[in-house]
Amino acid sequence: MPMRPSRPSHPPDLDENLRRRNVTNATPARIPTQRHLFDIPDEVAYLNCAYMGPLMHPVVEAGDRGIRAKARPWGILPDDFFAGGERARELFARIIGADAEGVALVPSASYGLSCAARNLEAPPGGRLVVLAEQFPSNVYVWREAARSLGASLVTVSRPEDDDWTRAALDAIDERTAVAALPHCHWTDGGRLDLVRIGDRCREVGAALVLDLTQSAGALGFDAGEVRPDYVVCAGYKWLLGPYSLGFLWAAPEHRGGKPIEYNWIARAGAEDFARLVDYRDEYQPGARRFDVGERSNFILVPMLNAALDQILEWGVEAIETTLAARTADIASRAAALGLGSAPSALRAGHFLGLRFPGGGLPAGLLAALAAEQVYVSVRGASMRVTPHLYNTDEDVDRLFAALKRTLD
Ligand SMILES: Cc1ncc(COP(=O)(O)O)c(C=O)c1O
Repeated sequence: MPMRPSRPSHPPDLDENLRRRNVTNATPARIPTQRHLFDIPDEVAYLNCAYMGPLMHPVVEAGDRGIRAKARPWGILPDDFFAGGERARELFARIIGADAEGVALVPSASYGLSCAARNLEAPPGGRLVVLAEQFPSNVYVWREAARSLGASLVTVSRPEDDDWTRAALDAIDERTAVAALPHCHWTDGGRLDLVRIGDRCREVGAALVLDLTQSAGALGFDAGEVRPDYVVCAGYKWLLGPYSLGFLWAAPEHRGGKPIEYNWIARAGAEDFARLVDYRDEYQPGARRFDVGERSNFILVPMLNAALDQILEWGVEAIETTLAARTADIASRAAALGLGSAPSALRAGHFLGLRFPGGGLPAGLLAALAAEQVYVSVRGASMRVTPHLYNTDEDVDRLFAALKRTLD
Protein backbone atom coordinates (compact mmCIF):
# COMPACT_ATOMS: atom_id res chain seq x y z
CA MET A 1 0.00 0.00 0.00
CA PRO A 2 1.35 3.39 -0.95
CA MET A 3 1.03 4.92 2.44
CA ARG A 4 4.46 4.99 3.98
CA PRO A 5 6.89 7.40 2.47
CA SER A 6 10.34 6.63 3.80
CA ARG A 7 10.75 7.79 7.36
CA PRO A 8 13.00 10.81 7.78
CA SER A 9 15.38 10.78 10.71
CA HIS A 10 14.01 12.18 13.94
CA PRO A 11 13.62 15.90 14.15
CA PRO A 12 16.51 17.44 16.10
CA ASP A 13 14.59 18.06 19.30
CA LEU A 14 13.60 14.38 19.63
CA ASP A 15 16.98 13.38 21.00
CA GLU A 16 16.93 16.39 23.25
CA ASN A 17 13.54 15.25 24.57
CA LEU A 18 14.89 11.82 25.36
CA ARG A 19 17.66 13.38 27.38
CA ARG A 20 15.19 15.58 29.20
CA ARG A 21 13.06 12.58 30.09
CA ASN A 22 16.03 11.60 32.16
CA VAL A 23 16.00 8.03 30.94
CA THR A 24 18.45 5.90 32.90
CA ASN A 25 19.32 2.24 33.09
CA ALA A 26 19.18 2.04 36.86
CA THR A 27 15.86 0.98 38.45
CA PRO A 28 14.42 4.16 39.92
CA ALA A 29 13.51 4.31 43.59
CA ARG A 30 9.90 3.80 44.57
CA ILE A 31 7.87 6.90 45.28
CA PRO A 32 6.21 7.12 48.70
CA THR A 33 2.45 7.58 48.73
CA GLN A 34 1.34 10.95 47.36
CA ARG A 35 -2.11 10.88 48.93
CA HIS A 36 -1.63 14.41 50.30
CA LEU A 37 -1.83 15.75 46.74
CA PHE A 38 -5.27 14.25 46.15
CA ASP A 39 -8.76 14.79 47.50
CA ILE A 40 -9.31 11.17 48.53
CA PRO A 41 -10.71 10.56 52.03
CA ASP A 42 -8.90 7.97 54.19
CA GLU A 43 -11.88 5.63 54.14
CA VAL A 44 -11.94 5.43 50.33
CA ALA A 45 -9.83 2.78 48.59
CA TYR A 46 -9.80 4.09 45.03
CA LEU A 47 -8.11 1.42 42.90
CA ASN A 48 -9.61 2.44 39.58
CA CYS A 49 -7.26 4.77 37.72
CA ALA A 50 -8.01 2.83 34.53
CA TYR A 51 -11.56 4.17 34.84
CA MET A 52 -10.67 7.75 35.67
CA GLY A 53 -7.65 9.41 37.22
CA PRO A 54 -8.50 11.72 40.12
CA LEU A 55 -7.41 15.35 39.94
CA MET A 56 -4.62 16.54 42.22
CA HIS A 57 -5.09 19.72 44.26
CA PRO A 58 -2.82 21.82 41.99
CA VAL A 59 -4.83 20.61 38.98
CA VAL A 60 -8.11 21.67 40.59
CA GLU A 61 -6.53 25.02 41.47
CA ALA A 62 -5.41 25.52 37.87
CA GLY A 63 -8.99 24.82 36.76
CA ASP A 64 -10.33 27.32 39.31
CA ARG A 65 -7.97 29.97 37.98
CA GLY A 66 -9.12 29.19 34.44
CA ILE A 67 -12.78 29.58 35.37
CA ARG A 68 -12.07 32.87 37.10
CA ALA A 69 -10.14 34.14 34.10
CA LYS A 70 -13.08 33.38 31.85
CA ALA A 71 -15.36 35.32 34.21
CA ARG A 72 -13.24 38.39 33.39
CA PRO A 73 -12.38 37.90 29.73
CA TRP A 74 -10.79 41.31 29.27
CA GLY A 75 -7.76 39.73 30.97
CA ILE A 76 -7.49 36.95 28.39
CA LEU A 77 -4.97 38.07 25.78
CA PRO A 78 -4.27 36.72 22.30
CA ASP A 79 -1.09 35.10 23.58
CA ASP A 80 -3.19 33.07 26.03
CA PHE A 81 -4.73 31.29 23.04
CA PHE A 82 -1.34 29.81 22.25
CA ALA A 83 0.99 29.60 25.25
CA GLY A 84 -0.79 26.91 27.29
CA GLY A 85 -1.24 24.62 24.30
CA GLU A 86 2.41 24.95 23.33
CA ARG A 87 3.40 23.97 26.82
CA ALA A 88 1.04 20.98 26.74
CA ARG A 89 2.69 19.77 23.51
CA GLU A 90 6.08 20.02 25.11
CA LEU A 91 5.11 18.20 28.30
CA PHE A 92 3.34 15.33 26.55
CA ALA A 93 6.21 14.98 24.09
CA ARG A 94 8.56 14.47 27.02
CA ILE A 95 6.30 11.79 28.48
CA ILE A 96 6.31 9.73 25.27
CA GLY A 97 9.87 10.51 24.15
CA ALA A 98 8.72 12.40 21.07
CA ASP A 99 9.07 15.91 19.70
CA ALA A 100 6.62 18.65 20.63
CA GLU A 101 6.17 19.67 16.98
CA GLY A 102 4.36 16.39 16.33
CA VAL A 103 1.79 16.86 19.09
CA ALA A 104 -1.79 18.00 18.46
CA LEU A 105 -4.42 18.77 21.10
CA VAL A 106 -7.52 16.65 20.71
CA PRO A 107 -10.61 16.13 22.86
CA SER A 108 -10.56 12.34 22.89
CA ALA A 109 -8.73 9.26 21.76
CA SER A 110 -11.43 8.70 19.15
CA TYR A 111 -10.83 12.15 17.65
CA GLY A 112 -7.10 11.46 17.33
CA LEU A 113 -7.77 8.03 15.85
CA SER A 114 -10.12 9.59 13.31
CA CYS A 115 -7.32 11.96 12.24
CA ALA A 116 -5.03 8.95 11.77
CA ALA A 117 -7.61 6.93 9.87
CA ARG A 118 -8.41 9.87 7.58
CA ASN A 119 -4.80 9.97 6.46
CA LEU A 120 -3.97 6.29 6.14
CA GLU A 121 -4.75 4.23 3.12
CA ALA A 122 -5.10 0.55 2.44
CA PRO A 123 -5.39 -1.26 -0.86
CA PRO A 124 -8.58 -3.27 -1.42
CA GLY A 125 -8.14 -6.45 0.57
CA GLY A 126 -5.48 -4.84 2.78
CA ARG A 127 -5.75 -5.68 6.45
CA LEU A 128 -6.32 -3.54 9.49
CA VAL A 129 -5.24 -5.36 12.65
CA VAL A 130 -6.77 -4.86 16.10
CA LEU A 131 -6.88 -6.99 19.27
CA ALA A 132 -9.85 -8.96 20.54
CA GLU A 133 -11.81 -6.89 23.08
CA GLN A 134 -9.80 -3.78 22.26
CA PHE A 135 -11.28 -0.49 23.47
CA PRO A 136 -14.14 0.44 21.11
CA SER A 137 -12.75 3.89 20.17
CA ASN A 138 -9.85 2.00 18.58
CA VAL A 139 -12.13 -0.52 16.82
CA TYR A 140 -15.12 1.33 15.37
CA VAL A 141 -12.91 3.76 13.47
CA TRP A 142 -11.13 0.86 11.75
CA ARG A 143 -14.39 -0.95 11.02
CA GLU A 144 -15.50 2.18 9.23
CA ALA A 145 -12.13 2.53 7.47
CA ALA A 146 -12.30 -1.10 6.38
CA ARG A 147 -15.76 -0.52 4.90
CA SER A 148 -14.80 2.63 3.03
CA LEU A 149 -11.43 1.35 1.78
CA GLY A 150 -12.56 -2.17 0.93
CA ALA A 151 -10.02 -3.46 3.44
CA SER A 152 -10.65 -6.17 6.01
CA LEU A 153 -10.50 -5.94 9.77
CA VAL A 154 -8.44 -8.69 11.36
CA THR A 155 -9.00 -9.27 15.06
CA VAL A 156 -6.18 -10.96 16.95
CA SER A 157 -7.74 -13.59 19.23
CA ARG A 158 -6.97 -13.45 22.91
CA PRO A 159 -3.94 -15.73 23.40
CA GLU A 160 -4.44 -18.43 25.99
CA ASP A 161 -0.93 -17.87 27.32
CA ASP A 162 -1.43 -14.07 27.57
CA ASP A 163 1.34 -13.43 25.04
CA TRP A 164 -0.25 -10.61 23.07
CA THR A 165 3.09 -9.69 21.49
CA ARG A 166 3.46 -13.06 19.78
CA ALA A 167 -0.21 -13.08 18.81
CA ALA A 168 0.04 -9.60 17.27
CA LEU A 169 3.32 -10.40 15.50
CA ASP A 170 1.73 -13.52 14.02
CA ALA A 171 -1.12 -11.41 12.64
CA ILE A 172 1.03 -8.66 11.07
CA ASP A 173 2.28 -9.56 7.59
CA GLU A 174 2.70 -8.11 4.11
CA ARG A 175 -1.08 -7.80 3.78
CA THR A 176 -1.29 -5.54 6.83
CA ALA A 177 -1.95 -1.89 6.09
CA VAL A 178 -2.46 -0.69 9.66
CA ALA A 179 -1.88 -2.22 13.07
CA ALA A 180 -3.97 -0.25 15.60
CA LEU A 181 -2.89 -1.34 19.05
CA PRO A 182 -2.51 -0.34 22.69
CA HIS A 183 0.59 -0.69 24.87
CA CYS A 184 -1.44 -2.79 27.30
CA HIS A 185 -4.86 -4.36 27.05
CA TRP A 186 -7.49 -2.23 28.74
CA THR A 187 -9.28 -5.20 30.33
CA ASP A 188 -6.39 -6.84 32.16
CA GLY A 189 -3.11 -5.03 31.51
CA GLY A 190 -1.71 -7.66 29.10
CA ARG A 191 1.37 -5.89 27.68
CA LEU A 192 2.60 -5.67 24.09
CA ASP A 193 6.25 -5.28 23.18
CA LEU A 194 5.82 -2.28 20.93
CA VAL A 195 9.48 -2.11 19.92
CA ARG A 196 9.26 -5.56 18.33
CA ILE A 197 5.86 -4.79 16.85
CA GLY A 198 7.17 -1.49 15.44
CA ASP A 199 10.08 -3.35 13.81
CA ARG A 200 7.68 -5.85 12.28
CA CYS A 201 5.39 -3.10 10.96
CA ARG A 202 8.30 -1.38 9.24
CA GLU A 203 9.48 -4.69 7.80
CA VAL A 204 6.10 -5.33 6.13
CA GLY A 205 5.24 -1.69 5.33
CA ALA A 206 2.32 -1.44 7.76
CA ALA A 207 1.42 1.72 9.64
CA LEU A 208 1.44 1.52 13.44
CA VAL A 209 -1.25 3.48 15.28
CA LEU A 210 -1.11 3.38 19.06
CA ASP A 211 -3.71 4.19 21.67
CA LEU A 212 -1.73 4.88 24.84
CA THR A 213 -4.72 6.00 26.90
CA GLN A 214 -4.27 3.16 29.39
CA SER A 215 -0.52 3.47 29.67
CA ALA A 216 1.11 6.85 28.91
CA GLY A 217 2.30 8.44 32.11
CA ALA A 218 2.50 5.12 33.99
CA LEU A 219 4.30 2.78 31.59
CA GLY A 220 7.51 3.87 29.92
CA PHE A 221 7.15 4.53 26.21
CA ASP A 222 9.68 5.90 23.81
CA ALA A 223 8.47 7.06 20.42
CA GLY A 224 12.09 7.19 19.27
CA GLU A 225 12.42 3.43 19.80
CA VAL A 226 8.96 2.27 18.75
CA ARG A 227 8.67 4.69 15.80
CA PRO A 228 4.89 4.60 15.46
CA ASP A 229 3.01 6.51 12.78
CA TYR A 230 0.47 7.97 15.19
CA VAL A 231 0.00 7.94 18.96
CA VAL A 232 -3.21 8.97 20.68
CA CYS A 233 -3.89 9.36 24.37
CA ALA A 234 -6.90 10.60 26.32
CA GLY A 235 -5.72 12.79 29.20
CA TYR A 236 -8.14 11.81 31.96
CA LYS A 237 -6.74 8.50 33.13
CA TRP A 238 -3.01 7.91 33.75
CA LEU A 239 -2.15 11.49 32.79
CA LEU A 240 -4.34 12.54 35.75
CA GLY A 241 -5.83 15.35 33.70
CA PRO A 242 -9.35 16.66 33.16
CA TYR A 243 -11.93 14.99 30.94
CA SER A 244 -12.18 16.06 27.26
CA LEU A 245 -8.55 16.85 26.51
CA GLY A 246 -5.89 14.54 25.17
CA PHE A 247 -3.18 14.22 22.56
CA LEU A 248 -2.38 13.01 19.11
CA TRP A 249 1.23 12.67 18.01
CA ALA A 250 1.97 12.24 14.32
CA ALA A 251 5.28 11.07 12.89
CA PRO A 252 7.05 13.69 10.75
CA GLU A 253 5.91 12.20 7.43
CA HIS A 254 2.25 12.48 8.45
CA ARG A 255 2.29 16.11 9.50
CA GLY A 256 1.18 17.29 6.08
CA GLY A 257 -2.06 15.26 6.34
CA LYS A 258 -5.65 16.44 6.24
CA PRO A 259 -7.28 17.47 9.52
CA ILE A 260 -10.86 16.43 10.20
CA GLU A 261 -12.00 20.00 10.76
CA TYR A 262 -10.91 23.39 9.54
CA ASN A 263 -10.51 25.75 12.44
CA TRP A 264 -9.02 29.20 12.27
CA ILE A 265 -6.27 28.80 14.83
CA ALA A 266 -4.66 25.92 12.96
CA ARG A 267 -3.87 28.29 10.09
CA ALA A 268 -0.65 30.20 9.58
CA GLY A 269 -0.78 33.73 10.92
CA ALA A 270 -3.63 33.01 13.38
CA GLU A 271 -1.68 34.95 16.02
CA ASP A 272 -2.72 38.19 14.32
CA PHE A 273 -6.40 38.38 15.28
CA ALA A 274 -6.95 41.59 13.33
CA ARG A 275 -6.05 39.80 10.08
CA LEU A 276 -7.92 36.52 10.46
CA VAL A 277 -10.09 37.45 7.49
CA ASP A 278 -7.01 37.33 5.29
CA TYR A 279 -7.76 33.66 4.81
CA ARG A 280 -4.71 31.47 4.51
CA ASP A 281 -4.25 28.06 2.92
CA GLU A 282 -1.13 27.28 4.94
CA TYR A 283 -1.33 25.67 8.33
CA GLN A 284 0.56 26.26 11.52
CA PRO A 285 3.73 24.14 11.52
CA GLY A 286 4.13 20.58 12.80
CA ALA A 287 1.03 18.60 13.68
CA ARG A 288 -0.93 21.69 14.85
CA ARG A 289 -3.27 21.33 11.87
CA PHE A 290 -4.86 18.38 13.70
CA ASP A 291 -5.71 20.45 16.80
CA VAL A 292 -9.40 20.41 17.68
CA GLY A 293 -11.32 23.69 17.34
CA GLU A 294 -11.21 25.80 20.53
CA ARG A 295 -8.17 23.89 21.72
CA SER A 296 -7.08 26.99 23.65
CA ASN A 297 -9.40 25.85 26.44
CA PHE A 298 -8.46 28.24 29.24
CA ILE A 299 -9.70 25.87 31.92
CA LEU A 300 -8.72 22.40 30.73
CA VAL A 301 -5.31 23.18 29.23
CA PRO A 302 -3.79 24.65 32.43
CA MET A 303 -5.27 21.72 34.38
CA LEU A 304 -3.68 19.16 32.11
CA ASN A 305 -0.38 21.04 32.20
CA ALA A 306 -0.39 21.03 36.00
CA ALA A 307 -0.95 17.26 35.99
CA LEU A 308 1.78 16.64 33.41
CA ASP A 309 4.22 18.83 35.36
CA GLN A 310 3.72 16.60 38.39
CA ILE A 311 4.04 13.38 36.39
CA LEU A 312 7.32 14.58 34.92
CA GLU A 313 8.53 15.62 38.34
CA TRP A 314 7.86 12.10 39.67
CA GLY A 315 9.20 10.55 36.45
CA VAL A 316 7.34 7.89 34.47
CA GLU A 317 9.94 5.24 35.26
CA ALA A 318 9.60 5.82 38.98
CA ILE A 319 5.79 5.76 38.71
CA GLU A 320 6.00 2.49 36.78
CA THR A 321 8.35 0.91 39.32
CA THR A 322 6.18 1.99 42.23
CA LEU A 323 2.93 0.80 40.70
CA ALA A 324 4.49 -2.47 39.55
CA ALA A 325 5.47 -3.24 43.15
CA ARG A 326 1.94 -2.36 44.28
CA THR A 327 0.19 -4.58 41.71
CA ALA A 328 2.68 -7.45 42.29
CA ASP A 329 1.72 -7.40 45.97
CA ILE A 330 -2.00 -7.33 45.10
CA ALA A 331 -1.56 -10.16 42.56
CA SER A 332 0.18 -12.41 45.06
CA ARG A 333 -2.41 -11.74 47.78
CA ALA A 334 -5.16 -12.40 45.21
CA ALA A 335 -3.47 -15.67 44.18
CA ALA A 336 -3.78 -16.85 47.77
CA LEU A 337 -7.56 -16.38 47.38
CA GLY A 338 -7.53 -18.40 44.15
CA LEU A 339 -7.67 -15.41 41.79
CA GLY A 340 -5.45 -15.45 38.71
CA SER A 341 -3.86 -12.74 36.56
CA ALA A 342 -1.58 -12.48 33.55
CA PRO A 343 2.03 -13.46 34.37
CA SER A 344 3.95 -10.39 35.51
CA ALA A 345 6.39 -10.70 32.58
CA LEU A 346 3.45 -10.28 30.18
CA ARG A 347 1.57 -7.61 32.09
CA ALA A 348 2.03 -3.85 32.36
CA GLY A 349 3.29 -3.07 35.86
CA HIS A 350 0.66 -0.45 36.64
CA PHE A 351 -2.31 -2.51 35.52
CA LEU A 352 -3.77 -5.67 37.06
CA GLY A 353 -6.74 -7.72 35.91
CA LEU A 354 -7.88 -10.39 38.36
CA ARG A 355 -9.60 -13.51 37.10
CA PHE A 356 -11.99 -15.59 39.13
CA PRO A 357 -12.11 -19.39 39.12
CA GLY A 358 -14.41 -20.59 36.35
CA GLY A 359 -13.94 -17.41 34.31
CA GLY A 360 -17.00 -15.50 35.55
CA LEU A 361 -17.26 -12.85 38.23
CA PRO A 362 -19.34 -13.36 41.37
CA ALA A 363 -22.74 -11.63 41.05
CA GLY A 364 -22.90 -8.27 42.77
CA LEU A 365 -19.16 -8.13 43.37
CA LEU A 366 -18.61 -4.51 42.35
CA ALA A 367 -21.60 -3.25 44.27
CA ALA A 368 -20.50 -5.15 47.37
CA LEU A 369 -17.01 -3.64 47.18
CA ALA A 370 -18.36 -0.16 46.47
CA ALA A 371 -20.61 -0.47 49.53
CA GLU A 372 -17.36 -0.70 51.52
CA GLN A 373 -15.86 2.24 49.59
CA VAL A 374 -13.51 0.01 47.64
CA TYR A 375 -13.52 0.99 43.99
CA VAL A 376 -12.35 -1.24 41.14
CA SER A 377 -13.93 -2.01 37.76
CA VAL A 378 -14.93 -4.95 35.62
CA ARG A 379 -14.07 -5.13 31.93
CA GLY A 380 -14.51 -8.34 30.00
CA ALA A 381 -13.67 -11.26 32.30
CA SER A 382 -11.36 -9.24 34.55
CA MET A 383 -11.73 -7.27 37.70
CA ARG A 384 -9.35 -4.38 37.08
CA VAL A 385 -7.33 -3.21 40.05
CA THR A 386 -5.48 -0.13 38.92
CA PRO A 387 -3.74 1.83 41.66
CA HIS A 388 -1.75 5.04 41.46
CA LEU A 389 0.53 6.95 43.76
CA TYR A 390 -2.40 8.08 45.91
CA ASN A 391 -2.87 4.53 47.17
CA THR A 392 -1.63 3.30 50.52
CA ASP A 393 -1.02 -0.13 52.05
CA GLU A 394 -4.26 0.41 53.98
CA ASP A 395 -6.18 0.71 50.70
CA VAL A 396 -4.91 -2.72 49.69
CA ASP A 397 -5.82 -4.16 53.09
CA ARG A 398 -9.31 -2.72 52.67
CA LEU A 399 -9.60 -4.30 49.22
CA PHE A 400 -8.73 -7.75 50.57
CA ALA A 401 -10.89 -7.44 53.66
CA ALA A 402 -13.86 -6.51 51.47
CA LEU A 403 -13.03 -9.19 48.89
CA LYS A 404 -12.82 -11.90 51.52
CA ARG A 405 -16.15 -10.87 53.03
CA THR A 406 -17.74 -10.87 49.57
CA LEU A 407 -16.32 -14.22 48.52
CA ASP A 408 -17.08 -16.04 51.79
C1 LIG B 1 -7.80 2.06 25.82
C2 LIG B 1 -8.73 3.22 25.87
N1 LIG B 1 -8.68 4.13 24.88
C3 LIG B 1 -9.48 5.19 24.86
C4 LIG B 1 -10.39 5.41 25.88
C5 LIG B 1 -11.27 6.63 25.82
O1 LIG B 1 -11.66 6.86 24.49
P1 LIG B 1 -12.29 8.25 24.06
O2 LIG B 1 -11.31 9.28 24.43
O3 LIG B 1 -12.51 8.10 22.60
O4 LIG B 1 -13.58 8.40 24.83
C6 LIG B 1 -10.48 4.49 26.93
C7 LIG B 1 -11.47 4.67 28.01
O5 LIG B 1 -11.70 3.78 28.82
C8 LIG B 1 -9.62 3.38 26.92
O6 LIG B 1 -9.63 2.47 27.91
